[in-house]
Amino acid sequence: MTHEATGANLADGLDTQAASQAASPVVLDVRGLVAEVQTPRGSARLVDSVSLSVAAGKTLAVVGESGSGKTMTFLSVLGIAPPAVRVTAGQVLLGGRDVLASTPEQLRAMRGTVVSMVFQDPLTALNPVFTVGTQISEVLRAHLPISAREARERAVALLERVHIPSPARRLDDYPHQFSGGMRQRVLIAMAIALGPRVLIADEPTTALDVTVQAQILELLTQLREETGMALVLITHDLGLVARHADDVAVFYAGRIVERTAVDPLFAEPRHPYTTSLFRSIPRLDEAPGTKLTPIAGLPPNLTALPPGCAFAARCDMRADDCTTRRPELVPAPGPDHLSACLYWPRLAADASPS
Ligand SMILES: Nc1ncnc2c1ncn2[C@@H]1O[C@H](COP(=O)(O)OP(=O)(O)O)[C@@H](O)[C@H]1O
Ligand code: SF4
Ligand SMILES: [Mg+2]
Repeated sequence: MTHEATGANLADGLDTQAASQAASPVVLDVRGLVAEVQTPRGSARLVDSVSLSVAAGKTLAVVGESGSGKTMTFLSVLGIAPPAVRVTAGQVLLGGRDVLASTPEQLRAMRGTVVSMVFQDPLTALNPVFTVGTQISEVLRAHLPISAREARERAVALLERVHIPSPARRLDDYPHQFSGGMRQRVLIAMAIALGPRVLIADEPTTALDVTVQAQILELLTQLREETGMALVLITHDLGLVARHADDVAVFYAGRIVERTAVDPLFAEPRHPYTTSLFRSIPRLDEAPGTKLTPIAGLPPNLTALPPGCAFAARCDMRADDCTTRRPELVPAPGPDHLSACLYWPRLAADASPS
């Protein structure tokens, strides 16, 4: 680890967590990503100018209401967005490789080895007619020149790593013989089988009960620590974010509206949408019985976005220019804190001497 950047960061008043992050190599770097779909009502930007990065050994949480573009962003990152969805701008660097300039063959070779994705529904992601051992072995043998016997041995070791009891015996079981939580562990075993540098977990625990959710997150965090891979955790659960993430990107209507480290996001959110999100979702770090307020209104239709801020119709801090000016993601008060809200630039303009 070099300390060159660390001194400068400390001088800027950043905490040691941010300083150590500066020292880890960035393994996923997304810049200005745009993904569009043509509809009868014109083109819609499902992903609009998204920029984010994750360093080795760190966890980026991605939050936002359903339909805000979280899944589409990462399907685009893996080159597996539905055919109707076209990436029309931006750059995606994965382990230093340019994803959008890669051939389908190169992308296939990167999946599993450089990046893996785990989805919400562990049942549909596994093939019901093959044993889990066969499915894990297939992942291994598609990329490695190993014998069937060796693949089987490695599959047992992988099941052990994801804490499936009696792994050698469970290898010959079919997916339906596993509980939901155990199936998700099998999928995680398949996702880490080839040692990816980035693991994207898309609402990996939504279908599971609360105790199992916590165990799966513990497992993902443990694997991240052991392997030094980067973890992208797409989740609705702000309690999981607080406990497991280093940084957070808040999505709204296809854009990132706030991006910073976990502590400042929870202590001083700099976007009214994030504040509303905190008020609308139960949090384990708050006293039980804290009153929840659902966010009034609905997200805008992506084919007919309003000209100004996409959150304006639902925002209780709205001012006149919010419906005409589009807020960009720019620095807000606090170190490394970005917000796409006109409130902060307005405040800065009011405070500066005229
Ligand atoms: N195959 C598709 N074709 C066109 N639009 C889609 C398709 N799949 C999803 N969408 C739209 O893309 C937007 C973003 O979806 P998604 O990334 O799945 O949101 P999230 O993961 O945040 O819930 C939504 O408005 C959704 O309706
Ligand atoms: S730009 Fe205006 S409408 Fe949008 S979130 Fe900020 S204050 Fe609210
Ligand atoms: Mg999704």
